[in-house]
Amino acid sequence: MSKFRSLTEAVKLARENLSQGDWDYLVGAADTETSLRRNRGAVESWAFRPRILNDVSDVQTATQLLGTDMRIPVILPPIGSVQAFSPGGGTAVAQAADEFGTLQILSSACAPDFETVAREVPGPRIYQLYLTGDEGWMDEQIQRSIEAGYTGFCLTADTQVYSRRERDILKQYTPMSGRTASPAGDFNYQASMSWDTVAHIKQKFAIPLIVKGVVVAEDAKRCVDAGVDVVYVSNHGGRQLDHSRACIDSLPEVVEAVQGRVPVIVDGGFMRGADVVKGLCLGADIVGMGRFEGLCMAAGGKDALVRGLTILEQEIRITMALAGAATLADLKPSLLERLEPVGTPSVLSSFPLLSEID
Ligand SMILES: Cc1cc2nc3c(=O)[nH]c(=O)nc-3n(C[C@H](O)[C@H](O)[C@H](O)COP(=O)(O)O)c2cc1C
Repeated sequence: MSKFRSLTEAVKLARENLSQGDWDYLVGAADTETSLRRNRGAVESWAFRPRILNDVSDVQTATQLLGTDMRIPVILPPIGSVQAFSPGGGTAVAQAADEFGTLQILSSACAPDFETVAREVPGPRIYQLYLTGDEGWMDEQIQRSIEAGYTGFCLTADTQVYSRRERDILKQYTPMSGRTASPAGDFNYQASMSWDTVAHIKQKFAIPLIVKGVVVAEDAKRCVDAGVDVVYVSNHGGRQLDHSRACIDSLPEVVEAVQGRVPVIVDGGFMRGADVVKGLCLGADIVGMGRFEGLCMAAGGKDALVRGLTILEQEIRITMALAGAATLADLKPSLLERLEPVGTPSVLSSFPLLSEID
């Protein structure tokens, strides 16, 4: 099952294994799904300007984030209801991250809960919390996550209200872990989040803070000024604000604003090794791959995710070598040029051979 030889086969397995509802939940996005297509379209619109005759006999992909060694500069982002894709849910992702050598950000909107995952799989790991309670409740959750061994805390700031995901609405599908903002009728704590929330967390807790959902220079600068430890460029995989810019298009201004003071993560539309290399060329320290994670989980749980990451690593290494880059420091914007995408961008447009293996 996890013996697939290509990421295309993993996607095919994922499609076969998931119900229509779970599939649509994974691949879908907000409203017209324009943000999702923009993410893919922009990634596809960068072409390599490779350099030749550099010694690439020893390509180095290892890096670190918040003191954690990572085999490749790829993080596994928070995925709510990940247990819908494979019964192990957050625990299986944690095991895969541990076995392969990367870092997981666990969503508070998935099963099992963060304390169970921490008991079952040794860290390090980052915890992403949606606020479904007041400040006292949030503080208690952060304290408990520190006690459970989490090494970073992630505040997702692009989900102050939950979007309309028309695919899910049309099919009357409700994600397993429920909607990610506060339930109807309750006070929406997530919507009341502000820069004061960031200041409060920084003042009260020593745990490194990641703010996810930064897409403009002004907010990136504000994060760094507020002591945020990692700036995470994301539009939630196009699942929140429709008609937003592609994340890879937001990246350069954020990198410029951050000025190397803290690490920058980017996600949104990165599905293959070459995509990751493009994100790194444009200044990201780490690339997040949400649907990649979900698709691998759906293809066969923990083992399939480890296999997918192993293939991804090969793709990254080969792309770097062929672009003439032996180290991550060699990845620069000058290795890229903007051109028209070759096809119509869509959530699966990085798997053009999918129909040929049916
Ligand atoms: C099925 C699914 C569930 C998600 N759940 C969460 C979540 O609980 N918290 C969060 O911060 N982001 C969530 N995201 C967004 C991802 O963390 C990530 O930002 C996004 O998937 C990146 O885009 P990509 O899928 O194109 O890689 C989710 C994404 C997907 C596809």
